[in-house]
Amino acid sequence: MPSVVKINVLTVPAEMREELERRFSGRAGMVESSDGFEWFELLRPLEGTDQYLVYTRWRSEEDFQRWQSGRAFQAGHAQAAGGQGHGHGQGPAASGSALWSFEVVQSAGPKQ
Ligand code: HEM
Repeated sequence: MPSVVKINVLTVPAEMREELERRFSGRAGMVESSDGFEWFELLRPLEGTDQYLVYTRWRSEEDFQRWQSGRAFQAGHAQAAGGQGHGHGQGPAASGSALWSFEVVQSAGPKQ
């Protein structure tokens, strides 16, 4: 079974970029312990667009779904949800989001 890649595309207004990155620096770090989790990257746009990518890779669709409907996801989005913690009740730093799903067809790293 190929791994699946789930990319959350966050639209972030210029004045919220710093805040978004600050929230990710203080992220819960729970995704790392979720079953079937393989990789995470926060990708900052370099070409003048306002879209950050949250790249995640999972062993299977089911593993992703389990994380997304569980407590680790909730805890991992406490700030984005606003209310408590470092979010100071401001709500999300992003003004929009979209979820992209892919299957890994090929992957490679450098030769050892
Ligand atoms: C409703 C849309 C979403 C928004 C606005 C959003 C925003 C954020 C923000 C600001 C954080 C930093 C931590 C915090 O806020 O407490 C975060 C964490 C994270 N987000 Fe999202 N997110 C959304 C949905 C998703 C989805 C669908 C995925 C699936 C790829 C995802 C993947 C992650 C991951 C892996 C973390 C780190 C969690 C951890 O450290 O345990 N997010 N998100």
